[in-house]
Amino acid sequence: MEVVILADPAAVGSHTAELVARRAAETPDMVLGIATGSSPLGTYRELARLHAQGDVTFDGVRCFALDEYVGLPERHPASYALVVERELTTPLGLDPANVRTPDGSAADIQQACLDYEHALAASGGVDLQILGIGTNGHIGFNEPTSSLASRTRVKALSQQTRMDNARFFAKGEDVPTHCITQGLGTIMEAREIVLVAQGEAKAAAVAAAIEGPVSSMCPASLLQFHPRTRIVLDEAAASGLTLADYHRFVAEAKHHFPGGTR
Ligand code: F6R
Repeated sequence: MEVVILADPAAVGSHTAELVARRAAETPDMVLGIATGSSPLGTYRELARLHAQGDVTFDGVRCFALDEYVGLPERHPASYALVVERELTTPLGLDPANVRTPDGSAADIQQACLDYEHALAASGGVDLQILGIGTNGHIGFNEPTSSLASRTRVKALSQQTRMDNARFFAKGEDVPTHCITQGLGTIMEAREIVLVAQGEAKAAAVAAAIEGPVSSMCPASLLQFHPRTRIVLDEAAASGLTLADYHRFVAEAKHHFPGGTR
C-alpha cells in the first residue's frame, strides 16, 4: 500500500488527476471506476481543466460508477447518474454510451445488480478505480459488516452515511435508505486503486483502513490485501496515522528506485 501525504486538498486533486491522465494516455480505452461524493471532485475538476486545455483526451475511456441510490425520482440532482453526468461525462467529453451507473430505479432491482456485474466483466474489468472513504470506513456503499467477498447488490445505508450525505438533499429524511453498490469483492478486482481523502473528519477512518486490522468493521481496511493501491491524503486526513513520517520518508526516497517502492 502506497500512502501519499500532501499539503492540502488542491494537491490531492492535482496528484490524482495526473495519475488518471497518465493512465488514460497509456491505455486510451481504459476502464475507469469512478466514485461520486465530494472527495474526488478536486480530481475531476483538475481532469476537466487538463481536458479543456487539450492536454488529455478521454474519447475511448469507459467508466463504471461504484453505486447509486435506490428509488430516487429520475434525474434527481443527487442521483449519482446525474452527478456523474455533471462532474465527468460533460466536462471530460466522455461518450455517454461509455458511462454506466447502477440502475437504482429498475423494476427488478436484483436483476439490475446482476446486470451490472455482467457489464463490468464484459468490459474486461476495471483498470483504475477511484475511491473515497466514508467516515465509517465504507468504500462504495459497503457499510461496516459488509461481506469482504460481496458482489454488486442492494444494501441498506447506515444511519451515519445517511447523516453524512444529508448535505446533498433538501431534507435529511430525503436521503434514500437503500442503494446498489459494487461489492468489496467486485472492487478488489480492479487492477489498480487510488483512494482519496481530505479533511479531519476522515482521519479516524483513514487510520483504521491503513493501520488497523483487516476487518469488516472498516471495509476500506480490505485494501491492505490489494497489491496496487495508492492512498492520497491531505495533512488533515493523515493526522491519525502513527506512521505518517514513514510514508513521507518513503515518498522522498522513492526516486532512488526506478519504478518506485510500494
Ligand atoms: C460514492 C462512494 C462513497 C463515498 C464516501 C465519501 O460513490 O462510493 O464511498 O466515496 O461516502 O463521501 P464524500 O466524498 O462525499 O465524503
